[in-house]
Amino acid sequence: MANNEQNKTSRESEETLTNRQGHPITNNQNLRTVGNRGPATLENYDFIEKISHFDRERIPERVVHGRGAGAHGYFEAYGTVGDEPVSKYTRAKLFQEKGKQTPVFVRFSTVIHGTHSPETLRDPRGFAVKFYTEDGNWDLVGNNLKIFFIRDAVKFPDMIHAFKPDPVTNLQDAERFFDFCASSPESFHMVTFVYSPWGIPANYRMMQGSGVNTYRWVNSEGKAVLVKYHWEPKQGIKNLTMKEAQEIQGKNFNHATQDLYDAIERGDYPEWELFVQIMEDGPHPELDFDPLDDTKLWPNDQFPWLPVGRMVLNKNPEDYFNEVEQAAFGTGVLVDGLDFSDDKMLQGRTFSYSDTQRYRVGPNYLQLPINAPKKRVATNQMGGQMQYKRDVAPDQNPHINYEPSILGGLKEAEQAGTEHTPFVEGNLVRESIDRQSNTKQAGETYRNFEQWEKDELINNLVNDLSKCDKRIQDAMIALAEEADEEYGRRLREGLANAPKMDSNMDTAGQSPLGNKDGDKAAGEA
Ligand code: HEM
Repeated sequence: MANNEQNKTSRESEETLTNRQGHPITNNQNLRTVGNRGPATLENYDFIEKISHFDRERIPERVVHGRGAGAHGYFEAYGTVGDEPVSKYTRAKLFQEKGKQTPVFVRFSTVIHGTHSPETLRDPRGFAVKFYTEDGNWDLVGNNLKIFFIRDAVKFPDMIHAFKPDPVTNLQDAERFFDFCASSPESFHMVTFVYSPWGIPANYRMMQGSGVNTYRWVNSEGKAVLVKYHWEPKQGIKNLTMKEAQEIQGKNFNHATQDLYDAIERGDYPEWELFVQIMEDGPHPELDFDPLDDTKLWPNDQFPWLPVGRMVLNKNPEDYFNEVEQAAFGTGVLVDGLDFSDDKMLQGRTFSYSDTQRYRVGPNYLQLPINAPKKRVATNQMGGQMQYKRDVAPDQNPHINYEPSILGGLKEAEQAGTEHTPFVEGNLVRESIDRQSNTKQAGETYRNFEQWEKDELINNLVNDLSKCDKRIQDAMIALAEEADEEYGRRLREGLANAPKMDSNMDTAGQSPLGNKDGDKAAGEA
């Protein structure tokens, strides 16, 4: 209180409005003008300060995953992986000790649509977790679904262009989406998930999460294994039919953000268990898929899900922009004991995230409280737009901003364990992987669906494909036939019976592209 008193002029009370220079504002209703009918004058500092800040309120929205909701919480380690000590596979400190808690921040999102788009749209959902560990930050940037549309990062900009609105009409267009997917057969497994009810999770609390890409765990001897990460919601999993989603969207297009916020406010804290699947490092020629191919599931019977900890979200953000909009996650943000694999998608992603964040948030985005580690930071980096402090630790000589130095300054850390030094050799090539197996797992996924999920999948595909060129329809039917006889037959019959529709769609429906015709074709498929 005494401090607050000191910080006020004699004209101010606790409620007094000021500008950002601290000047009390005496009139927030009228511009300063020549006479009360104007004109206004240019020296009107309070107005110019207010309006020009307003003019800059937005930062560029994420190029994907624009719409999101976030929450704080903690991760609690089990100290084991299944029934073995976790140290056998990784030396990452956050996992070692049973009961050890690490603070986290999570951002859930939709992918294709913009910042204020409905949360009922058919789309994968982002599930990005920032662990503020004692060794610095670890970001696990995942989705709700366990696989992805493509396996090579060079295709990502094309994929997103095809899925986003048409550059001329600015309308979502089923034909562009399926044109890309039909021409990229590796996407068929993901299309099968996204067009089923799994493409519309009921909310963020009742969905799974997955790291999707393959990573490595490294133990103290420097030995590595391949791992995949999966989050399982304690709340159960719930997905929506198209009709259910339309009903929700008619009433509330922010339902998932609201559900998460309200649950945390009422103390009903959502919780997920973290599982890993482990595979010995190597190409595994005995498998009919490549372990580095993110369009594939690792079969649970061969690679069981092993629990390693749980996560609880128990605090809403205090400011959406500061914490959720400016949050910056990246696949390169790993701690000792966790490593990349040779997965080409993962490597492409790792460049892309921090690159976009230097532009979207600014070169000093890591100084923002939501992104900064909750531990000592001591670098020799300096300057750049919006630097407001140097990352100088209390024990650091601020004059020596370089390394090495005889005079003092920062020194390199000791290696935490034996370094993992994989041997790499080969010709530099531009080639796709050998074991593509594009449709086999899509067929298995189709057969594993419950009847209502299969029906929804076929109806949703027929709805959107009926708006597409016949050549695209035929290519999609061929992929479905290759995956599963019944899947292909039902899609062919559904499309034969469906009326041909215009491919431009508004976003009132639930396709990733929007859907103006609702479930009209549903009964016919
Ligand atoms: C966000 C690139 C694949 C999950 C982003 C962003 C970019 C990007 C540029 C915006 C980041 C920001 O503005 O802060 C890529 C590239 C990919 C790829 C180049 C493929 C080569 C994937 C995959 C997943 C994924 C496979 C799922 C595991 C996410 C999530 C976000 C995101 C969850 C939102 C993070 C947040 O909440 O801030 N991606 N992505 N991405 N991506 Fe990817």
